[in-house]
Order: sequence, then structure tokens, then C-alpha cells
Amino acid sequence: MFCLVSLQELLSTLFLSPTPSPPRNNGIRIHIETPLHGNPPCYRPINNLINIRDDTGEFLVHLKNGQTIQAKCWNGWEWTHGVGLYGIWKIYEMTGKELYLKIIEDWFAERFMEGGTSKNINTMAPFLTLAYVYERTRNQTYLPWLDAWAEWAMYDLPRTNYGGMQHITYVDENEQELWDDTLMMTVMPLAKIGKLLGRDDWCTMVIPEILELLELDVNDPVRCHLCETLEAQYSYLEASATAGFAYGILKAVRRRYIGAEYRDVGLRAVQSVLRDVDEQGELRNTSYGTPMGHDLQFYKDIPITSMPYGQAMAIMALAEYLRTYL
Ligand SMILES: *[C@@H]1O[C@H](CO)[C@@H](O)[C@H](O)[C@H]1NC(C)=O
Ligand SMILES: *[C@@H]1O[C@H](CO)[C@@H](O)[C@H](O)[C@H]1NC(C)=O
Repeated sequence: MFCLVSLQELLSTLFLSPTPSPPRNNGIRIHIETPLHGNPPCYRPINNLINIRDDTGEFLVHLKNGQTIQAKCWNGWEWTHGVGLYGIWKIYEMTGKELYLKIIEDWFAERFMEGGTSKNINTMAPFLTLAYVYERTRNQTYLPWLDAWAEWAMYDLPRTNYGGMQHITYVDENEQELWDDTLMMTVMPLAKIGKLLGRDDWCTMVIPEILELLELDVNDPVRCHLCETLEAQYSYLEASATAGFAYGILKAVRRRYIGAEYRDVGLRAVQSVLRDVDEQGELRNTSYGTPMGHDLQFYKDIPITSMPYGQAMAIMALAEYLRTYL
């Protein structure tokens, strides 16, 4: 009844026949052998995600302390990977295919072997997925990581004057700044780990933050400010955002958090996501992400390039859409 495309077409967007795609070129090597090849059925966007490359090094970020950050390639550790892992987890939850769990476990095993990374509001993001994996597999070696990072978020993460979680990243301390994507990057991992390990205080702290942020009154000044900001700018139409809207709206309708009258707008977003996934499974029109800028132009100039988080948003949106066929 709500079908935008036939089930066959949707599946062919998500799944790929098992012919290995030739490596695009050399440049920075991804260490993960792609386990998707030869293992039908495969999700095309996932295959694309774990093979994203930055051949010229254009998107590497060099920190003052000598560390080099990869937000683009699969073997880095940034919020982009946190969202990417969560997308793969969602597919694992739906399919039960061990292959997807293995991609996630391999990512953590390799990052842990490298010694982890420095803690900030964004590098916390992968721990949401790690908490789910721990809940499923009970791999004990994850416990110290979950515990240490959640303790850090709870007690040592820099706070603003009013006690908010300051948006400290690899690059910038962002003194006194609160960003709403902290809900995804730090609050959800902290709440999940708190529930899992029975730390009620962690949950008690973050749950009101979620509710408060999501139930903003129409006259709420923060809400007004955000709406005005949206209306004030013209930028390119960005596809991962569309995928995020599609996922959020369709899921909220399915769980009856919002009324069925919103389904249509969610479906229109899915339609646009379907248009933007190319033959190789890449979600085109994805922006590099949102580092901190000091004027609007900065955001309009952010390059368009394939990214792990963009792939994950497409995967999540299309997987949620797939549920409307069940
Ligand atoms: C548990 O996780 C560690 C670290 O990622 C990994 O090296 C190990 O193989 C895992 N153990 C099992 C039984 O999967
Ligand atoms: C990207 O967005 C532009 C508009 O900003 C649109 O014309 C174009 O079709 C989109 N490209 C893809 C591949 O979706």
C-alpha cells in the first residue's frame, strides 16, 4: 500500500550479487578484507561503506599532537564510524547474519589492537554498538572498554557552566558549546551502557536530557532559534540528512510516537534516498560532515564525498523502509 518501489527493486538496491568489484585504485589501504565478497546476499551500501578510500589523503586531519585522523576511511575512529557501525548493527539485528556481526567485531578488534584513541564527545559514538554487541556475545574483553569510556563520559568529560556535555572533539575544545548531535554520539552510548551494566545513575542523568531535547515546546527559544536557522540558510540538498529524516520519521510512525499522517513525508525522503544510491551502493550527495565553522558559508562549502556515516544512514533508512513490506 505504501510501496514506492517493488520489493524486488528495493532488495536489489540493498543486495549485491557476489561478483567482487575491482579495487578502485591503490592509495590508502584498508586492512579489512571485505568479507562480503562471495557471501551472498550482501548489502551493497555496506560493501561500499567498508571500502571507502581517501586516495589522495585530502580528508585526513593532522592534529597538533602528531595524531592523524581519518573520518572517511573505514579503519579510522571518529563519529562517522560510530554511526556506520550502528547501521551495520541494525542490519545484523534484522538478518541475524553472522557476517555483519563479524564486520563490527573486526572493526573493534583492530582499533583495540591499535591502542584505542583519545576520548572526546565524538569518539564515544562507537560504544553504542559495542554495548549492543556485548549484550549479544558477552565478550568479556569489551567490559573494561565500556566501563572506562562510560565513566569518562559521566565524570571527566568537560562540562559547560550549566553542567551540559561540552562539544569537545579531536580538533577543538569548543568552550561552552552544546551540540544536539551529542545525543547520538555520547548520550545514547552512555544510556545504553548504563542500562546494560546496571548503573542507574548514568541512565537517570541522560534520560531527562533526551526527553528535554526532544519535547521542545513550540515557543521554546531553542526550538525557535533552530527553526530560524533552518529557514535562513540555503545550502546544497544533502543526502545523508534526508536518509536520517526518513529513518527517524518512519521509525517514529511504526512505533506510534507520531501519527500515521507523517508516513508520507517519510516515504518521500526514502524516495530521494533510493534515487541517490548509485550502482556501487554509494549514497551520493553526502557531505564530509560537520566540523565546527564560524559562519554559514563554511557549512555550504563542505565538500560532497562518500562517507561511512552516510552509507550507514542510507542503510538504516532503507532497512526501516523494508519493514513496511513485512
Ligand atoms: C573478544 O574481543 C576481542 C577484542 O576485540 C577479540 O580479540 C576476541 O577474539 C573476541 N573473543 C571472541 C570469543 O570472539
Ligand atoms: C545531488 O543534488 C543535486 C541538487 O543539489 C541534484 O541535482 C542531483 O541530482 C543530486 N545528485 C544525485 C546523484 O543525487
